[in-house]
Amino acid sequence: MVGRRRLKVALGVASLATIATATGIGAAQTPGAAWPHVGSPLPADPAMEKRIDALLAKMSVEDKVAQVVQPDIGSLTMEDIRQYKFGSILAGGSSGPNFDDKAPAPAWLAYADAAWDAVTKRGDGRPVIPPIWGIDAVHGHANIIGATIFPQNIGLGAMRDRDLIRKIGEVTAKEMAVTGIDWDFSPTLAVVRDDRWGRSYEGFSEDPSVVHDYAGAMIEGLQGKAGTKEFLRDGKVIATAKHFVGDGGTANGIDQGDNPDTPERIRDIHGAGYPPAIAAGVQAVMASFSSVRGTKLSADKDLLTGALRDQMGFDGLTVGDWNAHGQVPGCTNTSCPAAINAGMDMVMAPDSWKGFYASTLAQVKSGEISTTRLDEAVRRILRVKIRAGMFEKGKPSSRPFAGKFELLGSPEHRAVARQAVRESLVLLKNQGHVLPLSPKLDLLVAGDGADNISKQSGGWTISWQGTGMTNADFPHAQSIYAGIAEAAKAAGGSATLSVDGSFTKKPGAAIVVFGEDPYAEFAGDRPTVEYRPGESRDLDLLKKLKAQGIPVVAVFLSGRPLWVNPELNAADAFVAAFLPGGEGGGVADVLLAGADGKPRHDFRGKLSFSWPKRIDQTPLNKGDAVYDPLFAFGYGLTYTDKGDLPALSEERPAAATRPDGTVFARGTLPPGWRFDLAEQGGVAEPVTGNAGATGRGGLRLSSVDRRAQEDARRMVWGADGGTARIVADKQIDIGRESNAQYNIVIEYRVDAAPTGAVRLGMQCGANCAGTVPITGVLRAAPVGQWSTLTLPLNCFATAGLDPRRVSAPLTLASDGAATLSISDIRFVSANGVATCPR
Ligand code: BGC
Ligand code: BGC
Repeated sequence: MVGRRRLKVALGVASLATIATATGIGAAQTPGAAWPHVGSPLPADPAMEKRIDALLAKMSVEDKVAQVVQPDIGSLTMEDIRQYKFGSILAGGSSGPNFDDKAPAPAWLAYADAAWDAVTKRGDGRPVIPPIWGIDAVHGHANIIGATIFPQNIGLGAMRDRDLIRKIGEVTAKEMAVTGIDWDFSPTLAVVRDDRWGRSYEGFSEDPSVVHDYAGAMIEGLQGKAGTKEFLRDGKVIATAKHFVGDGGTANGIDQGDNPDTPERIRDIHGAGYPPAIAAGVQAVMASFSSVRGTKLSADKDLLTGALRDQMGFDGLTVGDWNAHGQVPGCTNTSCPAAINAGMDMVMAPDSWKGFYASTLAQVKSGEISTTRLDEAVRRILRVKIRAGMFEKGKPSSRPFAGKFELLGSPEHRAVARQAVRESLVLLKNQGHVLPLSPKLDLLVAGDGADNISKQSGGWTISWQGTGMTNADFPHAQSIYAGIAEAAKAAGGSATLSVDGSFTKKPGAAIVVFGEDPYAEFAGDRPTVEYRPGESRDLDLLKKLKAQGIPVVAVFLSGRPLWVNPELNAADAFVAAFLPGGEGGGVADVLLAGADGKPRHDFRGKLSFSWPKRIDQTPLNKGDAVYDPLFAFGYGLTYTDKGDLPALSEERPAAATRPDGTVFARGTLPPGWRFDLAEQGGVAEPVTGNAGATGRGGLRLSSVDRRAQEDARRMVWGADGGTARIVADKQIDIGRESNAQYNIVIEYRVDAAPTGAVRLGMQCGANCAGTVPITGVLRAAPVGQWSTLTLPLNCFATAGLDPRRVSAPLTLASDGAATLSISDIRFVSANGVATCPR
């Protein structure tokens, strides 16, 4: 772990490494490696280009700018769409029609119609450009309640089955068409090289050849085969190859970080999926949040224009990622001519669209963005729209498949997903051939993943993080337990659900389903590949059952290979199920024999990621000079294999475990951080230990007990007031959390109400801060009782904070006397429920 300097302040990671690489920006680029010429599979179409010329000639600058700015439906009203006539909209994770991410399917179609009308009914003589609506249908149309939920890509990688990949694309597209959505931000073609990355599960493999093999099949499934009549017609959608390029190779697996690889490795490893994607006719490419050798992809002309367009010959549209342009030096979320000038055709400005539209318009008028470049961007967008038949398709609800809600999670579609589950399971251990289990045994099904559809599905399922759901939110899905119970019953046996593994009658065998809880993007970044450091609940459960002489089968749910040597030792059989999605029944299909005792389906999944032998083995990839995995790339037992494993080492390198801290919890700050105190107009005086005071005593900090001894702090301001702060030893970057609408949650207690104004804030070095007033909140809080204050992190950015350079993650300034205690401060992913206090 040497060299990995990373400070965890919350769920999301405030990474110092990111800051360090940011300083490398501006370093000279080595000349790019030449990318292969691929070209479009579609014949040149001069008539179409003429049609685009004619449209461009009639469009005003405003009309054009409206094509290149993409707002999110969570931050815009129908009236906004009507007024601006946007060329496209998106529904990001946790965004749904009418601000409801659990909106029923008909509401999505109704929204599509309303947006269509809002754009196309103009009556002002200006050209009518139909809108396209994009969504992350990344493992099925899984944002929509009732849709078929496929395994996440990591599981699909284990299948090595191109035909099934194509079918999955077909089903996904059809279900999208049911709801009137035209454009899928999928497939992810990341070649995942460091499994600490929170998006590992979105990738098919660490091996470029698997990604290369799948890219075209998935795209053809979604879009139809280029050059045939089905291409982008009935029941097909526009696909997106993402995130171009190098997203899976950021240093230390830090999401949105920097990929330091050479131009050749960027092309040959990380870029492996793009030539086949372009050959299959993919119509959109999304630029990555990350950077390559210090340059953010959002404004990397060499890659966006040079490699993608000039060299590979991609002629579709490039779209940016969620406010990713705001990370380009010199840009903000609401202004970034550099992105468009570098070759980005459409900018995803989810909640920043209004400012972005205005600044882009001004930059075109001033010449900072040339008319030629704007026209080129719009041409590409129009080309995609014409190819997709948008000018002829008519209102979303009038199209084939639209409104056929019975297709969402239909038996045929679910059968495809169930097959994918069967094929994606990888058998890692089968001591003494304990599997397959006889269905006639009394089975005990334990673990918190046993009857938990949301946990078996992972992130990007209904909500962005995949959290906040119960099984009732999945009308067309089955938990793993429910699938086992069904199969057991059909064969004359029984299965009992017992999450904690307790029972009255000793079972014939136990299946324990456990693993990672859902996460998405950077919220899933981890400092090591150890499964649940410092927590042994699942291991204890496995051991408890085994100690009672019960054969134990572990079904491990995870978005990546993790170090589970103790769990492997404690189980007789161990199945890596990854994130199988909605068809839990597929697990029983393989684990439970038929009534005749013979397997009904054998295992056929083979690891598409190397499995670590030690927790500090990152990165670990096929082809490494020193390659010493526990299970190599390609490993996967079948029922005919001898599945015995020797006892594995359970030793952890001590340095690899580190506190997974929030800003303040259990009475402690992250290492190196401290409190300091300053009287009004005075200098800040550091607090050493758990208590302190300013020299003149006007502001004091002391320890108090809440849940445990000295786990909270009390601040007492005298009549003249002052500021108490938490100061970080190095600047931290919470830009991503702020951008993604995380909340800050503070547990506090008012011990004496403030006599003057109180402001809560954060600082980003000298003369850089954002504060919000909380006087009203504190005065309204019950004195002497613990309360919780939740507010969006971006309140501070709106008030002037640069969230990428936070030096003091908490400041509490009081103008008068007050006594306040705090016990916990953390950043949590949220769906924008809280509002900024004024
Ligand atoms: C993700 C993309 C996604 C986009 C829209 C971003 O944060 O990185 O993969 O397509 O949001 O939801
Ligand atoms: C995600 C979006 C999501 C948003 C939630 C972004 O980073 O990519 O899809 O809706 O955060 O706040």
